[in-house]
Amino acid sequence: MSKVSRREILYSGALVAAGSLLLKPAFAHSDLLATVVEKAEGAGVIEGIPEIDLAPREHLLFDFDWRFLHGHATDPAKDLNLGADQGDFAKTGDFHFAQPKFDDSQWRTLNLPHDWAVELPFVNDPALTSHGYKPLGRKYPETSVGWYRRTFDIPREDEGRRICINFDGIFRSALVFCNGVFIGRSDSGYAPFGFDLTDFLNYGKANSITVRVDASYGDGWFYEGAGIYRHVWLTKLDPLHIGQWETVVRTEIQPGGARLSLNTSVENTGSAKEICSVQWRIIDESGKTVATAESPDAEIPIDGKQIFTAPTKLVHPAIWSLEHPTLYYAVATVESNGKVRDRDRASFGIRTLAWDLDKGFLLNGVRTPIQGTCNHQDHAGVGAAVPDRLQAFRMEVLKGMGCNAIRTSHNIPTPELIEACDRLGVLVMCETRIMSSSDEGLAQLSTMIRRFRNHPSIFLWSMGNEEWELERDLAGPRVIRAMQQRTHELDPTRQCTAAVNGYWDKPMAPCLDVMGFNYNLSQIDQYHKDHPKQFGIGTEIASAVFTRGIYSNDKLRNWVSSYDKVYADTNVDEGQAWWNFYGSRSWLAGGFAWTGFDYRGEPSPYAWPSVSSQFGIVDTCGFPKDTYFHYKAWWDNKPLLHLLPHWNWPGREGEEILVQAESNLDSVELFLNGKSLGSKNVVPQCHLEWRVNYTPGVLEARASKNGKVVLTETRRTTGPAARIVLTADRTEISADGEDIAIIRVEAVDKNGLPVPDADIFVRFKVEGEGSVIGVGNGDPNCQQSDKKPERSLFNGLAQVIVQGIRKPGPLMIHATSDRAESAILTVITKEAKLRPAVATSTRLKS
Ligand code: GAL
Repeated sequence: MSKVSRREILYSGALVAAGSLLLKPAFAHSDLLATVVEKAEGAGVIEGIPEIDLAPREHLLFDFDWRFLHGHATDPAKDLNLGADQGDFAKTGDFHFAQPKFDDSQWRTLNLPHDWAVELPFVNDPALTSHGYKPLGRKYPETSVGWYRRTFDIPREDEGRRICINFDGIFRSALVFCNGVFIGRSDSGYAPFGFDLTDFLNYGKANSITVRVDASYGDGWFYEGAGIYRHVWLTKLDPLHIGQWETVVRTEIQPGGARLSLNTSVENTGSAKEICSVQWRIIDESGKTVATAESPDAEIPIDGKQIFTAPTKLVHPAIWSLEHPTLYYAVATVESNGKVRDRDRASFGIRTLAWDLDKGFLLNGVRTPIQGTCNHQDHAGVGAAVPDRLQAFRMEVLKGMGCNAIRTSHNIPTPELIEACDRLGVLVMCETRIMSSSDEGLAQLSTMIRRFRNHPSIFLWSMGNEEWELERDLAGPRVIRAMQQRTHELDPTRQCTAAVNGYWDKPMAPCLDVMGFNYNLSQIDQYHKDHPKQFGIGTEIASAVFTRGIYSNDKLRNWVSSYDKVYADTNVDEGQAWWNFYGSRSWLAGGFAWTGFDYRGEPSPYAWPSVSSQFGIVDTCGFPKDTYFHYKAWWDNKPLLHLLPHWNWPGREGEEILVQAESNLDSVELFLNGKSLGSKNVVPQCHLEWRVNYTPGVLEARASKNGKVVLTETRRTTGPAARIVLTADRTEISADGEDIAIIRVEAVDKNGLPVPDADIFVRFKVEGEGSVIGVGNGDPNCQQSDKKPERSLFNGLAQVIVQGIRKPGPLMIHATSDRAESAILTVITKEAKLRPAVATSTRLKS
């Protein structure tokens, strides 16, 4: 393990390559175009996280070298004949397509995570509007089903071990087969699930897993992707082993230290009773053991389960906070007769969560207003199949504006998102998909709580979003009481909420531990008066729409102005004013803006050809809209000045242009070509405005504090695009087949100034050890392919995501255009420790 702490890996102004020259960025003045990530971390095996050997357990990544084929939702002849005979499921082990020897050589090869929806063309069907116009659903049987196959070898020595497959999430309705045998199914697009394959494996021989995925139905009303879009794992265990997600660490801060209560459940699936004990080791981020504990022996009968507990103490532990998100790791070991039988680990943090009727939410005893954003899992180029590094990148972008919390709207999240929040210091309101106390609803909820209860970033569980029928009906309180009760049984340390929109006068809302207010600012004070003993948080607010780099509402082009004005046709609380409300009521715990990132689907206020939402504070690539700096001014305590719009308005000479500045300093003075246009005092949480007759040149703002100019910002009229510039978030990535570089593509004029309205078409070619896995430009109306290595810039910017392979070497990204000089950027993929992974069967190959 490298000794470099992840917190020391600061973003150091990545090198920019233009032509073959390596240059330092010449455009740091343009904050709207600048990368907003201030620090970055890697993927796969992450530096700064101790490596913990779990032997004799093997926990293997099952992501590489899958085969993929589109099936058919209604025609068995195009669906490997499944369903051609109504008795298909009559026998357990009769599925020809799931035999190891089945010929899938014509199927496409790919690595997970994979989202086939993002690869599909856009289809202009109003039924598809909210899902981003991708042809999924019962009307599109030919593109709604996908088959995945994977072969692997199991050595003879594994006989006697329990071998399980775990899917972190599949969208959706998965049927799983192993070696010709039907194993099981899972419908949810978001709940993790797994199966014990032990009895069906061929020991010392080739094996296969086949998964049929059917995205004909959606789980939500937003883009959700399709396919195996999260990781898959194969875990090999002793029959005497620790239950899945069954090592729980609870912490209590005491004077001079912390008391830990350790709790591990052990299962005996062997053929004899066992006597065993559990030992725990607590490891800090450097890998040092800082505490230990041991349970007494206990007997576990065949097919029995036993919970082992022990307390331990940490002296002067580092506390997990937003500024210093220090993690610890508990390694639990099961021993029987002096022999280690199994080992598992759980990461946790030491911190306190508290709610107060007057002070809202307190982290570590300090009032911490939630400066949050709601987010769906969807990114330019990759859709729902977000690589681990991209999860962290997205959180870095949001943290860059002072966002200290996210809501996993509206579903059980991907584990790597929560891990990124743990490491980066971002709080999480973790939400389940279905608000229901049905067996299925409670099962999904329980899975979410068990899966994530150790994670320090999670501060609140959400029982769901806007279930109007339950909210207004008598069933609502019953459902919520049952869900909260189940949650508290599994995790007595956190409170529950639900995002409620309307029907606040009905019986469900007051049942929540923490009332979750969606919108309706004008009714919140009255609700509080009526329910003074209930905590409150803004679970969803704003829904303000902006198109990045656009300064007019244009219904023909489906644009929404970036000026701080609410789009006239939307009937929601003022986009940027909500913080005035939430920030000024101490009993409220802050809230979550809808949304941090733009996402596919829900293209309000427009429809086709808009394919993405415009609600984001950043676009689908993570490029900030102007509103980002409004939030940053009031959420991030650093001095800030931001000026809009850009100053390229050919043909509008002499016309009045609205100029706005965002600042948290005392006053801002505006200059055009050196001449003062007046100084204005900053009013907290408001922007400043000037009406300026357009003359090309230099628009400059100077912000002062205590009479001294502290910051200046300029917007210069540029020439046309002359040259492409590529900038990577990191120019060295791990050669682990998982890590990515996120590359900003922009155009500069002949003087090196970024051209804010450039729309040149750029082609990409990658040479060396990797490939392009996706492209985007943040334009909600762009219907170019996410997968073809080419893209137009949208208002000066595009993004290309490249991924290395499991072989180190240089990766050269060439960007060419008919309208600008080309650029080359080299990303080095360096030798990295690979996560243990399942290899493709060699027995079948030979
Ligand atoms: C909310 C809903 C979100 C999104 C948003 C758009 O009511 O919870 O998922 O649809 O509206 O404004």
